[in-house]
Amino acid sequence: MKFELSEKKISQIKADFELVFVQDKNLKPFKESKALFDLQNYTGEGLCLDFSNKKLFVELKSLEYEDIRLAFANAYKALKVLNVKSIKSPCIVGKCTFRSFASMVEGIEFASYDFNKYKSEKKPSKLEIFIISKDELNGKTYEIKDAKEGLETGRILSEASHFTKDIVNEIPELYTSLKMAEDATKLAKENKNITCKVYDENFLAKEKMNAFLAVNKASVHPPRLIHLSYKAKNAKQKVVFVGKGLTYDSGGLRLKPADSMLTMKADKSGAAAAMGIIKAAAELELPFEIHAILGVAENMIGGNAFKPDDVLISREGVSIEVRNTDAEGRLVLADCLSYAQDLKPNLLIDMATLTGACVVGLGEYTSGIIGNNEDLQDEFYKASKKSGEYACVLHFNPHLKELIKSNMADVSNTSISRYGGALTAGLFLDKFIRKEYKDKWLHLDIAGPAYVEKAWGYQNFGAGAAGVRMCIAYLLELARKDKKGLKK
Ligand code: BES
Ligand code: ZN
Ligand code: ZN
Repeated sequence: MKFELSEKKISQIKADFELVFVQDKNLKPFKESKALFDLQNYTGEGLCLDFSNKKLFVELKSLEYEDIRLAFANAYKALKVLNVKSIKSPCIVGKCTFRSFASMVEGIEFASYDFNKYKSEKKPSKLEIFIISKDELNGKTYEIKDAKEGLETGRILSEASHFTKDIVNEIPELYTSLKMAEDATKLAKENKNITCKVYDENFLAKEKMNAFLAVNKASVHPPRLIHLSYKAKNAKQKVVFVGKGLTYDSGGLRLKPADSMLTMKADKSGAAAAMGIIKAAAELELPFEIHAILGVAENMIGGNAFKPDDVLISREGVSIEVRNTDAEGRLVLADCLSYAQDLKPNLLIDMATLTGACVVGLGEYTSGIIGNNEDLQDEFYKASKKSGEYACVLHFNPHLKELIKSNMADVSNTSISRYGGALTAGLFLDKFIRKEYKDKWLHLDIAGPAYVEKAWGYQNFGAGAAGVRMCIAYLLELARKDKKGLKK
């Protein structure tokens, strides 16, 4: 879809339909003297159609970015049904022009995402162009340059999220480690600023990544470590993302119950998000050196599967007692985090659909922000809020460490308690973080929002691209502070 910023007043723009935003459906219509909510049949979902005048009245709860996204998404869904080709709309400027414009695009683009590859009957949208008038809802003045930058950022973020979603939604039969390697290679080919290296099982063995290798033992597909990188010209900071890329998680010999196995194609979401992030970062030309390390494997059953009772010697030299083969993501991440620290990052972020416990604790829509550095967690949380992703900071405490002690090895891959699983998984990962990186590391448990079975607002059924927008929002914030010379 094309987004166009027009210099004209909204009344002078030609389009099939016009959006009219209403701040409160009972009281305060913007611009219009009387809200048509009173006159027309109110649809009950923040929308009211005035078909004869080709206007759609849309409820806008506030000028917060998330409300802008929701209002535009709502409007898009209604107009898609009407087979409209072009829409005109006033612009909405909240606290920051750039973010507001990005939010308008995100609302529309996210609502339009549809993974329909396997449906015989596709229902493509007829909408071709979305014209945003220079007219601002409240007559606020703003810089056109910021508006244009916002639209472009919204487009890049939406495309990167769609890219991530396509990977996550793809079926496990087709989306194997080799397919992910192919997609990563293609991404690098299409973007001259991105490079990609794919490492095979021999490399993993040479690097002593035994925890990673163990997880993939019963798969018919080989494991892969994919290393994508992007470097801006005057990059001063190095940011490394690590993504859990389980193309399928059957649970291994600790086989998952049937209901829990369903959706485990989405266990590659961390890796898919890391790919989306590097794509967006390169397109936005963020002033950093960025790496994405993807640990790609498949957790299956078979005569050669790794077993509960096994002890694995990880790349860091930390020995791990396997007490549950379904806690496999942390094993892959342990070795990938070790590899990632060799790159000497200023910031290290891993993303993983790591625990059901995180979903139980925070709900299906919220990611957990876990780590040792509370200031970093708080800063990241603030960025996540602007981005439209739901996240929640979770804090460690020393007593939880007792729960992952092992009688056989340096650490157990599962806690002895049923409680606090998201944090004990985080503490397991912390065992592989070297002293000098403890405060530079964040673990994002995206198990809930990575795959959404109950659609909401602009999030349709399926992959959610969790991690992409919040990480880019954090990097944008970091770049802004760097520019001001606040943080080096
Ligand atoms: N991939 C799962 C976590 C998961 C659960 C992701 C639900 C998305 C939705 C992970 O590998 C897993 O199985 N974790 C176990 C850990 C347990 C064995 C300590 C879990 O959460 O049950
Ligand atoms: Zn598992
Ligand atoms: Zn898993």
